[in-house]
Amino acid sequence: MPPIISVQGLNKTYASGFEALKNLDLDINTGEIFALLGPNGAGKTTLISIICGIANPTRGTVTADGHDILTDFRQARAKIGLVPQELATDAFETVWATVNFSRGLFGKAPNPAHLEKILRQLSLWDKRNSKIKALSGGMKRRVMIAKALSHEPKILFLDEPTAGVDVELRRDMWEMVRGLREQGVTIILTTHYIEEAEEMADRIGVISNGEIILVEEKTALMRKLGKKQLTLSLREPLANVPDSLAAMPLTLSEDGRELNYNFDTEQEHSGISELLKELDSQGVEFRDLRTRESSLEDIFVGLVHGQ
Ligand SMILES: Nc1ncnc2c1ncn2[C@@H]1O[C@H](COP(=O)(O)OP(=O)(O)OP(=O)(O)O)[C@@H](O)[C@H]1O
Ligand SMILES: [Mg+2]
Repeated sequence: MPPIISVQGLNKTYASGFEALKNLDLDINTGEIFALLGPNGAGKTTLISIICGIANPTRGTVTADGHDILTDFRQARAKIGLVPQELATDAFETVWATVNFSRGLFGKAPNPAHLEKILRQLSLWDKRNSKIKALSGGMKRRVMIAKALSHEPKILFLDEPTAGVDVELRRDMWEMVRGLREQGVTIILTTHYIEEAEEMADRIGVISNGEIILVEEKTALMRKLGKKQLTLSLREPLANVPDSLAAMPLTLSEDGRELNYNFDTEQEHSGISELLKELDSQGVEFRDLRTRESSLEDIFVGLVHGQ
């Protein structure tokens, strides 16, 4: 199947001269949940804005469901729902009017049954006659999602969907996003909650300084870059790692009281038994040991800083 979104050689230089996207290539597969991760200012919103036709590219091409976003803008845009990072709704309109109007903008015939379904899914049905200004922040965010879904898009962009959303509601939103994927909607989300990507995404893309530095299946990424660390709390502090252990991936804490041993989760042979034997023969005693596995967060921080 061809990618549902294809970005090729995309460049964005803002009027200020700042180059926010640098020759970026990215394909999004039909039906996947793709998490775009990157530090503040990396270019996530810029990329999404271009795909959704809110900002103009300086160079490069983008197609959405086969439609060029510049030459075939209306067709491309009709396939896309966008939940923007910044809330933007008319405070004095009701929830129902807002969502209904949004559907109309895409030239779709009214469909109260569809709107009722999404408002119920988002627990907004009881609020349908409330003015937006009378809603809480989390409810406003859900209205933005309802708006984005009003015209039955095949592709949904969620730019920081759960910023400022409480834990319970966040779980509900994850549930809803999964439900949408089951209905065949392709979802691209950005988030600063790495656990959200870890929980939800099929694939992860990492963007930094306007460049995609990695795209990988989540499970493969965690397997490949995942590390385990064994920490030994020593009985007596060491001044340095013993010479006979110098070849091993060991580091000593600053106070000399903890010895850290890094190993690969992929590796068949961890080397731990050799390490323990060698420590024993050197007379290095430890009083406690613990292991920890890296999370997607560790991997992400390592990637962005190691660039
Ligand atoms: N309209 C604009 N004019 C000039 N520079 C801009 C404009 N919009 C964004 N930028 C710059 O482009 C870079 C990327 O911004 P963008 O909003 O895409 O980042 P982001 O990855 O979405 O960050 P965040 O995680 O904070 O939302 C930043 O350095 C930002 O200052
Ligand atoms: Mg952003």
